[in-house]
Order: sequence, then C-alpha cells, then structure tokens
Amino acid sequence: MGLLAICGSITADLIGYGPRLPRPGESVLGRRFLVAPGGKGANQAVAAARSGARVRLAGARGDDAHGELCAAALAADGVELSAVAVHRGATTGVALICVDEAGENQILAIPGANALVTPPSPCGASVWLCQGEIPAAAIDGVLAAARADGALSICNPSPVNAIDPELVGRFDLAVVNEIEHEALRGHLPERVVLTRGARGAVLLPSGEELPALPARAVDTTGAGDALTGVLAGGLASGMAIEATLRFAIAAAGISVEREGCQTSYPTRAEVERRLQRSTVP
Ligand code: RIB
Ligand code: NA
Repeated sequence: MGLLAICGSITADLIGYGPRLPRPGESVLGRRFLVAPGGKGANQAVAAARSGARVRLAGARGDDAHGELCAAALAADGVELSAVAVHRGATTGVALICVDEAGENQILAIPGANALVTPPSPCGASVWLCQGEIPAAAIDGVLAAARADGALSICNPSPVNAIDPELVGRFDLAVVNEIEHEALRGHLPERVVLTRGARGAVLLPSGEELPALPARAVDTTGAGDALTGVLAGGLASGMAIEATLRFAIAAAGISVEREGCQTSYPTRAEVERRLQRSTVP
C-alpha cells in the first residue's frame, strides 16, 4: 500500500461548548470543556490512518504536557512520527475553540512549535499533503519532497489568511471550502476538490457533484480535516478520486455528529456501515 506523507501542525485543542459564540467584549457561560488532540496536520493524519491508510507525519511539538497528549494520540492510531521534532522548552501549538449549539465554531490558533516546522525530507511517499498552519518554507519543502518522491502533491490551504496564494497554485490538487475557493480565485491549480459542508463536494474541473449524507451536527470543528485526510489516504492507497471522495464525505459527515476533531473521526468499518445504510431503501 502507498504511503501518505503529511507535513503539518500538531496542536492541543482547548474546546468550550456553550449556547452561542461570544460577541467581541462579551462573556457567555459555557456548559462543557475538553482538551483534545488537534491541529490540521495531526487531524488529517489520524483521519487517514483510521480509514486504513499508511501515514507518516512530519511536524514539530514542544516537550510539554500538550505535546505528549498529541503524540500519544497519533501513536495510538499508528501514525509514524519519526519526523516529528520535539523542541525542548518550546510550547506545543494551542487552539482556543468555542462551539455553539448548532455545532458552529470559532478558533484562535496559537502556532507555538508549529512555527518551527522545517522543510520535510523525501520518504518514498505516493502522496504528500500539507495545510496552512506551518511556515511557507516548509510548504515549499513539501513541493520539493513530492517532486523527489514522484508523488501527488495536495494542499489544503487552511487557514486561508495564513498561506501564500502563489504557493497553493504549484500543487497538483487543492482541497478548499467555499471561502477558500473565493479567496484563492486565480491562484488554484487546475484540479480542485471544493467542499460544501452539508451539501457535499464538487470535483473540478469536471464539475461532478458528490452529495453528503444527512447528519445531525454537534461539532463541525475539523470536519474539513476528516474529509481531506481520508481523501489523501485513499489516493495514496490507489483508490480512484470519485470513490475516495465519496468515502471521505461520509467520514466527515460522521465526524460532525460527535465532539472534537480526532476524537470524532470514524474507522473504515464505521464509514462502510454508514454508506451501506444510505443505499438501503
Ligand atoms: O481544523 C481544525 C483544527 O484547526 C483544530 O484541531 C485546531 O487545532 C485548529 O488549528
Ligand atoms: Na466533530
């Protein structure tokens, strides 16, 4: 089976659930608090690993409790971590996340050690994947590593305000939501997966639409990571893009029905059951 190599962020998510998101200057009483492993790179690695892919993550963390929590979660899912640097005295990335009753969120991500991620080395991967939570030099390094490995390069330019649009256009494939699609107009590669939340996804340039399955949203945080990770893992394993995207949409749909990011990602068997149920009249 082909290898999926990801270079990306490793972050501890501090998540508060409340009735609604606070406005500027306002305090709102929440009902529940959770510390969970997150970061777009790590999330996508776990989503891919649970769907059955062989995954290697390159990144950086501190030697603190948050870093230990994140590394333990990745290891438990079988993600290969030898290219994750542990920086002594550095703070592992942290994200402050508020989630309202509709499952919508607001995120303030503090990079910490993610700002220290360096360009990764080639490793014989068949797919290379990165996101926007690491330095531009590392993203450039992902393109170089993909070229050296003869791999497909995929970029998930999120958060879109943190990534150089010119870099995104140099990837083979981009996975973007509607806001990112609009913001990067004129800079995207030809091949794009446009994700549309509860409305599924569109494959470009063909325009083929793949619908989502109905889901009751509890927490949509990291649903895009579930979709991107599962999609990249499927492509690395040699699946056709339509089939793997259908699978990835179902995985993301299951993830919104549960709290947290990695904590909510389904196994391959769960996704298969959901897809089966949806085709039974
Ligand atoms: O995409 C969701 C992720 O983005 C969270 O896990 C959080 O770490 C933020 O950076
Ligand atoms: Na979730």
